[in-house]
Amino acid sequence: MSAQKRTMKASTKKRKSTAPKAKPKRTTKPPAKKRASVAPKAKRTTKAPAKSAPPKSKRGSKAPPKKRASVAPKAKAKTRARKSKPPVRVTAVPTSAPKKAKTTKSALHTRICDMFGIEYPIIQTGMGWVSGASLTSATSRAGGLGILAAATMTFRELQEAIAKVKSRTDKPFGVNMRADQSDIMKRVDLLIREKVKVASFAQAPGERVIKTFKDAGVLTMPTIGARRHAEKVQAWGVDAVIAQGQEGGGHTGHIPTSILIPDVSAAVDIPVVGAGGFRDGRGLVAALALGGAGIAMGTRFLLTKDSQVPDHVKQIYLDTKANGTVVTKAVDGYPQRVIRTFLIEQLEKANPLTRFPRAALNALSLMKVTGTSLPELIEEGLAMKQNQELTWAQLAMAANAPMLTKASIVDGRVEAGILPTGQITGVIDEIPTVAELLQRIMAEAEATLERLGA
Ligand SMILES: Cc1cc2nc3c(=O)[nH]c(=O)nc-3n(C[C@H](O)[C@H](O)[C@H](O)COP(=O)(O)O)c2cc1C
Repeated sequence: MSAQKRTMKASTKKRKSTAPKAKPKRTTKPPAKKRASVAPKAKRTTKAPAKSAPPKSKRGSKAPPKKRASVAPKAKAKTRARKSKPPVRVTAVPTSAPKKAKTTKSALHTRICDMFGIEYPIIQTGMGWVSGASLTSATSRAGGLGILAAATMTFRELQEAIAKVKSRTDKPFGVNMRADQSDIMKRVDLLIREKVKVASFAQAPGERVIKTFKDAGVLTMPTIGARRHAEKVQAWGVDAVIAQGQEGGGHTGHIPTSILIPDVSAAVDIPVVGAGGFRDGRGLVAALALGGAGIAMGTRFLLTKDSQVPDHVKQIYLDTKANGTVVTKAVDGYPQRVIRTFLIEQLEKANPLTRFPRAALNALSLMKVTGTSLPELIEEGLAMKQNQELTWAQLAMAANAPMLTKASIVDGRVEAGILPTGQITGVIDEIPTVAELLQRIMAEAEATLERLGA
């Protein structure tokens, strides 16, 4: 019986209390240290007190939904039927170093587990400057799918990062790319040579890239934000999609995750991985109930011990409330969700003409950092312009986002950079290891299924 059918059947059973059996606990306390290290301007954007105790104001720490969704999923049941063994029962959500979740035969073992060769239907998305070898290998080692963010790496750095991941784990992992990079086909060849399991894309790659990967047995998985995009890339032959709602990065559109997942999964046959707004096992079960085959998370993984983002920057994310983020075009002409900082407020107020010269300077810095030559940059720019119908001003600004992200996320200069995020940062308040996180999510998902009578 599929997870969806099981959920529907469960709705006819006697219900237990709506309160959760096990309240999710934090494996680690929020850092007690004050935000002294935070750049002064950033203080404007964050909550006043540093949290030394589990915050009461964060809604996510409490009870799950009071009502069970009564709507039968429209989507075809796409998760594989698992009849042989009922879901493993877990009565409490572990507070530290949880036991290994046994999900091989449960509803939590979905199509993407088999397709990607992973234990849990959980993906750590490619995040520029964030998901390097450390985070990616930690995720894959822990049973999820880690994805290296290659768009902000030189070709050489990508080679090194792949080698590093392989030296730390023999589990499958992915690489996130930008299909409009001038050396894209060289990168495609590298992934094929290195037998990387999955190539993911912030936006739909062209048919040529997909076909080359397909012929070589590398799975492709673009991120999409609308049903028609999913239908288009399915027709091109991609193996799965990440359906990202507006709660996530903001660059894939306005549709919330809760509407996007069922809409997309009813429209395509390939697995649909939900993204945008996930952090725990309840979210995983919700994504599966909506027709998804798993969850992909960015911000939640950024806020782990295995991510190499500086601690004082992580603290700003922890301190940000659910309404402390904004989707802005002020950075590079594209909508992007960021933490609302002093710099963002200034950029939003600034005249695009005054933003332009700084953007050009940033474009030059990006050239240096990624080793892109001027002709290559122009070539990339023309490809971007063609693919995405940008104005020349937007094009010049497009270099801003990576450089401004690097300033804060890598160099720790929060006052001089931007902090890309999902809204979920507003309800995250601790920093577990990736292994703790995955075990906790799976145990919590199993407890949630049990609570729902599945
Ligand atoms: C710091 C940061 C950097 C990101 N960089 C990329 C990127 O380089 N490529 C990409 O496809 N998505 C990128 N994203 C978006 C994530 O891959 C993912 O779609 C999003 O974070 C999911 O939403 P969530 O944060 O609510 O989990 C980034 C997100 C964050 C938070």
